[in-house]
Amino acid sequence: MSDATSIEHPPWLTSGDFTAADEPLSLFAAWFAEAKRSEPVNPEAMALATVDGDGLPNARMVLLKGFDERGFVFYTNLDSVKGHELAAAPKAALTFYWKSLQRQVRLRGSVEPVAAAEADAYFATRPRPAQIGAWASKQSAPLESRLAFEKAVAIYTAKFALGTVPRPPHWSGYRVKPREFEFWQERPFRLHDRIIFTRPDPSAPWRKSRLYP
Ligand SMILES: Cc1cc2nc3c(=O)[nH]c(=O)nc-3n(C[C@H](O)[C@H](O)[C@H](O)COP(=O)(O)O)c2cc1C
Repeated sequence: MSDATSIEHPPWLTSGDFTAADEPLSLFAAWFAEAKRSEPVNPEAMALATVDGDGLPNARMVLLKGFDERGFVFYTNLDSVKGHELAAAPKAALTFYWKSLQRQVRLRGSVEPVAAAEADAYFATRPRPAQIGAWASKQSAPLESRLAFEKAVAIYTAKFALGTVPRPPHWSGYRVKPREFEFWQERPFRLHDRIIFTRPDPSAPWRKSRLYP
């Protein structure tokens, strides 16, 4: 039985002492691979925080669709609230929480749009109904009824009945380029382990430190 002080990890968990890591990307890759084995649903779900014109934070979940040394990619509607906020203030924070592993990863930094060819390539892999949905949804705009949305889906289904569905001009991806990257592992009695990697800009080397929990 698990309680507030005992943590049961799956027997295959092999990350070892993560606080010994000397750079964040391979540690993230190891934790993400373990989350994919361990989380029952959406290990790639992450909270995306942006700010509005008043500096008021806004957070919502999105799905991680790729990561490498260039940054962390998600896709969305560019005319959504987040799209407008990122156009005005191209900085963001991302947070993963993998409950089954009692791990949190946070990163933040500047944001840039992905290249059109990269967005096209990803869009082409999406299931056709999701491609149609990207055309039909004016994400974050008021919608008078479910029926109005279903009509829009029907219209675009007819419009793109033949051939491939092109990527809508209002749908693309963003890449968050981390400047700070924190790893948190729950330990008994709230004596958690935390390490943070920082760099002044994405071309500088990472510096690591431990943080009190
Ligand atoms: C698990 C999960 C994953 C989601 N993934 C995405 C995503 O990848 N892209 C996206 O635009 N919205 C995604 N959403 C919906 C967003 O959370 C949000 O409702 C939507 O993007 C509108 O946000 P905005 O009004 O702040 O722009 C996801 C929601 C959940 C719960």
